[in-house]
Amino acid sequence: MASCTDLEEELVRDESVATPHEPEMSRRNFLTATTALTAALAVGLPHAADAQSTTASAPRMADLLLTINGKQQALPIDTRTTLLDLLRENLELTGSKKGCDHGQCGACTVLLNGRRVNSCLTLAVTLSGAEVTTIEGLGQPGNLHPAQQAFVDHDGFQCGYCTPGQINSAAALIDEFKRGELSQVSFETGKTDHPQATEREIKERMSGNICRCGAYPNIVAAVRALTMGGVA
Ligand code: FES
Ligand code: FES
Repeated sequence: MASCTDLEEELVRDESVATPHEPEMSRRNFLTATTALTAALAVGLPHAADAQSTTASAPRMADLLLTINGKQQALPIDTRTTLLDLLRENLELTGSKKGCDHGQCGACTVLLNGRRVNSCLTLAVTLSGAEVTTIEGLGQPGNLHPAQQAFVDHDGFQCGYCTPGQINSAAALIDEFKRGELSQVSFETGKTDHPQATEREIKERMSGNICRCGAYPNIVAAVRALTMGGVA
């Protein structure tokens, strides 16, 4: 039976045996080299991390030309800015709400070139030359947009937090019906020629706008009245 000392000597002899493909690299040499490399990286890493964080935090600015509520504006912006933050933080148009900031609630819905979008998911820098309409530009007191009037007439809100997004969605939905655009319900019901503004269609098409107060019955009534061309 071999002693510990014999085994150690055997191990040392094995480590110095070169393989045909790696004539110079024993296990001991390999460990020595990797230890030195690790130490060098450890010294260098803090500098690399500093450089990386400096790069990540440095704002990159861009000039943006945007028409917001009918007014063309040249805006210098940080390229990381979402449309929602541009509206709320830079331009003080706080009618658009930040509910989730993840594209899940619809509170931030605005019209972009006439179509509804979640402004929290839209990078402002991608919108050069576009037209944006927020709830402030859709209508004004004394001259409400039909969608705004329908929500008033049918009590389509409680706390009102989701309401600007709901109204912008409803306004866009009318145009989507006029263009004959289809939804999942259109296919399920076989109404793919001229989709009708049924309650089921309205619920499907408004499903991206969440109301935490649960004012859905009145929201649907408001949108129904709107799609039938009558308000009230
Ligand atoms: S804040 Fe944009 S979808 Fe919720
Ligand atoms: S009215 Fe309160 S969240 Fe919709």
